Amino acid sequence: MAALIISGGNPLYGKIKMQGSKNAVLPLMAASLVIPGKTTLLGCPRISDVFAMTDLLRKVGAKVLWQEDTLCIDASVVQPVVIGPEDTKSTRACILLLGALISRCRSAVMAYPGGCAIGKRPVDIHLAAFKQLKVCVTEGEQISCDASKLCGAEISLTFPSVGATQNIVLAAVCGRGVTRIHNAAREPEVAWLCRFLVQAGAKISGIGTAHLLIEGVERLHEITFSVPPDRIVTGTYLAAVMSAGGEIQMTNVCPEELTAVIRPIVQAGGAVRVLEKEIIAKKRGRLAAFDYLCTEPYPGFPTDMQSLFLALAATANGTSVIEEKIFEARFGVAKELARLGARIWVDGACALVDGQRTLRGNSVHAGDLRGAAALLVAALGAEGTTQLTGVEFLERGYENIWEGMSGLGADIRME
Ligand code: UD1
Repeated sequence: MAALIISGGNPLYGKIKMQGSKNAVLPLMAASLVIPGKTTLLGCPRISDVFAMTDLLRKVGAKVLWQEDTLCIDASVVQPVVIGPEDTKSTRACILLLGALISRCRSAVMAYPGGCAIGKRPVDIHLAAFKQLKVCVTEGEQISCDASKLCGAEISLTFPSVGATQNIVLAAVCGRGVTRIHNAAREPEVAWLCRFLVQAGAKISGIGTAHLLIEGVERLHEITFSVPPDRIVTGTYLAAVMSAGGEIQMTNVCPEELTAVIRPIVQAGGAVRVLEKEIIAKKRGRLAAFDYLCTEPYPGFPTDMQSLFLALAATANGTSVIEEKIFEARFGVAKELARLGARIWVDGACALVDGQRTLRGNSVHAGDLRGAAALLVAALGAEGTTQLTGVEFLERGYENIWEGMSGLGADIRME
């Protein structure tokens, strides 16, 4: 079993370019199936979730080729073959193939999606919306969609689900008529998907707002698109420097997408300078505790950064309260942080963290992607050596993060 061996205490210094966004590129890859031709994605991250998605695209007939960090997809031929549980277990984003296949083939059959163990993660909002678009949805062992009567609808989401919003956009983009989505998710990854589709000939307005209007078009055309930078990876490096100390410059960043992440760091005493496409972050002594932080849909504080802030709170000066409002089971990492000496009490959706001056290295095991990143960040600032297993979770979303951290001066190696 692979493990990362991290000797804490080295401050981080230097400049590092952020990778393309996992959560943005997966919907773009699904969207490539709606385009009857070539899609070229520049700056695509080489991570296992992307590899899993390339397998899925190939399964339905697309040709997929890597040229360094460019992903070339040719979806001239797409067949709505049954996508079984062995294909859907590793990534949650496979659910987006439903919307794409509905648009392209008017039919889709797929097993229920897997992904990280951070909560129940149902798909009821996705399927209810499809039904409103006159898709005949049958649930059983698998989800079957017959979209021969697909047409536009007025849809009000009960919760602004990121995946459901993207799935509706995908299904409606080449459907008949006009679709309106109210209470749409405003996450940047929804906006990136819409911009991609508009560049390919789709008609979408209200991009970036909670009200999207999609006018179905006959067909989309070939496109080349740059994958935007990963805001959560940027947040991870930001957390790393606040844990280990030092000063780093992150390039290829969209700082405006990180406002809710930068704010609590600055309030806690970290120095963060925002330039046009760069962020310079410096640790100035021990961070103050986060009085109260709660995860919310964008533009609120992202759930994907919650575990990383739990790690920071573990050594902050004072008591922090962190509330998780999006995924109910996302405090799994607290138990592992405790093995490093963190004092965390979890009560339902709230965690109370009594900040310690230092954490101490130990062997820890990650159970999900962002939990793995949080353990890495905690270990970088801890005394002594940490052995981190569950590295395959890191590989789902981070491109060689240990090499990135090593390049900044961290003492970290893969074993
Ligand atoms: C996406 C991101 C994930 C991020 C999350 C919230 C990708 C590939 N993943 O996940 O990293 O943590 O947004 O920002 O982009 N829900 C339902 N029924 C549904 C759909 C969702 O109850 O049909 C609930 C979920 O269980 C969860 C909440 O809504 O409690 C948010 O889920 P959603 O916004 O859909 O997240 P994802 O798209 O799965």
